Amino acid sequence: MDEQQGFAWDDRYLLGHSAMDETHREFVALVDALLTVEADGLEAALADFARHAEAHFDQENRWMELDGFPARDCHVDEHNKVLASVREVQLELAEGNVQLVRELAVALMDWFPAHADYMDSALSTWLVKRSHGGRPLVFRRTGSKA
Ligand SMILES: [Fe+2]
Ligand SMILES: [Fe+2]
Repeated sequence: MDEQQGFAWDDRYLLGHSAMDETHREFVALVDALLTVEADGLEAALADFARHAEAHFDQENRWMELDGFPARDCHVDEHNKVLASVREVQLELAEGNVQLVRELAVALMDWFPAHADYMDSALSTWLVKRSHGGRPLVFRRTGSKA
C-alpha cells in the first residue's frame, strides 16, 4: 500500500444543527489526518482524535440528556464503542502497531456516514425543533458529490 486514501468532507453529511455540523467537519478532518499523516505523526494525530472524540460524544450525550429526548441508549453505546476502540488502538500504537491506526481510521470512515444519518440526524432534528419550533434548514451546495 503506497498511498493512503484520505477522508474528505461532503455536504451530504450536513444535518442542519450548526454546532454539530462544525464538530462533524472536525471529525472528518481528524480521521483524514489518521489516514494520511506520516507514521511519525500518528501518535499526535491519534491523541488529537481521541480528545476530539471524547468532547464530540460527550456533547451529544449531554444534548440527549435534555428533557424528552427519546431512545438515547443505542446512540450512547455507539459512542462508547468507538471510544473503547480508540483507547485500545492508542495502547497498540504505543507498542509500535502503526497499521492498526490506519485500520481504525478506515473503520471510522465507514462508520461515520451511517452514524450521522441514523443517530446524529435524529438528535439534530430534535434539537433544532426544540429551539426553533421547526425543522432544520440544510443548505447543500449544488454540485456537491452525491
Ligand atoms: Fe456526531
Ligand atoms: Fe453521535
